Amino acid sequence: MDQSTKHAGNTTSRRSFLRGGLAVGGAGAIGAGLLTSVVPAFAAEKSSYITKGDIAILRFLAAAEIIETDLWQQYNELGGIPDSEVPGGSGNAAYTTALEVLDGDMPQYVHDNTEDEISHFKFINAYLIANGADPVNLDKFRTLPSSQATGAQNIGRLTNLMKLTVDTSWWVKYRSRTKNPDFGDTFAQAIPALSKGQFPAIPRNNADLSDPTHVQAIANTAGFHFAFIEQGGTSLYPSLAQRVTNVEVLRILLSIGPTETAHFQTWMDKAGNAPALTDPTNGLVFPDLNSPPFGGEDFQTNLIMPEPTIFLSRKFPPCSIIRPTETKGAAMGAVKALTADGLFIGQSKEFFAVLQTLAQQADAAYRG
Ligand SMILES: [Fe+2]
Ligand SMILES: [Fe+2]
Repeated sequence: MDQSTKHAGNTTSRRSFLRGGLAVGGAGAIGAGLLTSVVPAFAAEKSSYITKGDIAILRFLAAAEIIETDLWQQYNELGGIPDSEVPGGSGNAAYTTALEVLDGDMPQYVHDNTEDEISHFKFINAYLIANGADPVNLDKFRTLPSSQATGAQNIGRLTNLMKLTVDTSWWVKYRSRTKNPDFGDTFAQAIPALSKGQFPAIPRNNADLSDPTHVQAIANTAGFHFAFIEQGGTSLYPSLAQRVTNVEVLRILLSIGPTETAHFQTWMDKAGNAPALTDPTNGLVFPDLNSPPFGGEDFQTNLIMPEPTIFLSRKFPPCSIIRPTETKGAAMGAVKALTADGLFIGQSKEFFAVLQTLAQQADAAYRG
């Protein structure tokens, strides 16, 4: 019996069982399998507490979603579809055309991913308020510059998309049949050059639009960055869900998390269409991932579903899973990954302190 079940009260579980007509001789006679069937009753009756830990997890996730929204908004202003669902910006034709090389529907997908992130942070904040907790507001940290290219709004930003160091190991991680980051395994970079140095994922200004190969390199960088961001969310939700106590809060994490995965798989597919090139302005190389030394099953571009790999223990057969899902330090791990990505270059000490506190509090939450 897990802590939350205990917490929710034996009276509820007894009542549920009795109402269901099950003849039970007392709590001791209830098997573990049967117990799981009473969880929906707890949820319906809202009888289990929302703990401090649940609030801490939701507050960290609200911050993460605000950060996601800020970066996706910048992508949408230049390469998506500004409209009433995702207001701001007016589009940049050269950048949009380069994104469309990865897929003709890229503006639609960028728009839809942005709308999803807006809905995530607004929902979590509204839920926090409804439960008497403080929502998260990072507005005072909107101090970073906007792109000066045609199409972008000139407003303060939380994130910086103009000096990214994109970790592209997710490409190999999800194709591996023998390794899992939860076992301490590390993975090669699909685009080694992108994981070193600093590269723009949006045009910084209109001068960035004069060389078509440079524009394509910027769009390719964005294509790999989209998937990097969304694979992070794909792991973050199941990792933190293991620390949630209240069933309704668990439902929130289990319902938002898989939409991050829907985004990730879309972006994994599109990144595979990024054309091989060398950026003449900075030497950034996008290799042909279907050719040596790449190629083979770890790299082939039409693999967009996770390969089965080791999970929990090597004694079990390989399983197609999200990876990592280790819960220990998951929130801090996300902050570190986003920081290493270059997203927060130029942010204040106070911003990092606020984000780290939110992460530490989420990581300190425990089930029950
Ligand atoms: Fe999200
Ligand atoms: Fe996301």
